[in-house]
Amino acid sequence: MDVKDKTAAITGGASGIGYSCVEQLLHHNAKSVAILDLPSSKGEDAVAQLRSQFGKGRVHLFACDVTSQEQVESSFKKVVETLGGLDILINSAGCLDNVMWERMIDINVAGLVRTTLLGIDIMGKHNGGCGGTIVNIASIAGVTPATEFPIYCATKYAVVGLTASLQGSYDRTGVRMLLMCPGLTRTPLADNMMEMSFLSFFDHNKLMADMKTWPDQPPEDVAKAMVKLIEKGKNGAACIVAANEPLCVIDIPTYQDLVKHEL
Ligand SMILES: NC(=O)c1ccc[n+]([C@@H]2O[C@H](COP(=O)([O-])OP(=O)(O)OC[C@H]3O[C@@H](n4cnc5c(N)ncnc54)[C@H](O)[C@@H]3O)[C@@H](O)[C@H]2O)c1
Repeated sequence: MDVKDKTAAITGGASGIGYSCVEQLLHHNAKSVAILDLPSSKGEDAVAQLRSQFGKGRVHLFACDVTSQEQVESSFKKVVETLGGLDILINSAGCLDNVMWERMIDINVAGLVRTTLLGIDIMGKHNGGCGGTIVNIASIAGVTPATEFPIYCATKYAVVGLTASLQGSYDRTGVRMLLMCPGLTRTPLADNMMEMSFLSFFDHNKLMADMKTWPDQPPEDVAKAMVKLIEKGKNGAACIVAANEPLCVIDIPTYQDLVKHEL
């Protein structure tokens, strides 16, 4: 699939990885891209910057909190009207918060489930659509435990489980389900990690010292990988993009793939 002339919507597209994905899609001649983000985000500045780079008519901003069913439905309706359809949905809206963890689950899991299901209904062949592509942004912490961020890790495992399961409906929906699993990436979310509160039983000082040694990557690297994944990824592909590592896709293990030991 060539992203040229395609329409795309990106939740959380006003900042970080989402913003870089908008930029890369426009750079690769996507027809138009919709950013769905919180009214409190830097959406206006993001759109002004992108319009100065790529022209006025190719990027649009829609205020949308993914935790609200009503806002998601009304903003997706406006997206389809404004863009004249939808070919690609990238779910990037997310946060990392050890304290307000219920809100984090609402955004990272319930919000992503909500926009994924609506995206499938809008693009799906089962509903008269032409099919399309959904990329859900999980994390390396969605395929391997992350001791420092157990609840965030749980939300990302949920994203992987949802996406890997929905790929099985491709024959009916025609909507390709893809996963992007970035490693540590320099964005506001990662910057906040240095100031956040950790769970009470962690050694805060040791964690801070450890985290400073973790290699990170710019969001552009994830966005470039995103375009490659959309253009080349087979239904169900899960892409890992991490600092100092070659870009790759992994197989999400099924029950048959598990290594079993006698108890
Ligand atoms: N930065 C990393 O190291 C890293 C690594 C792996 C995965 N991720 C994932 O990548 C995605 C993007 O994160 P980022 O690092 O670019 O963070 P970011 O904070 O730069 O961007 C997140 C965006 O999501 C938006 N958002 C938050 N809550 C929302 C809501 N309720 N409704 C709509 N939009 C909402 C924010 O306003 C912001 O624009 C997240 O899902 C994150 O978990 C990030």
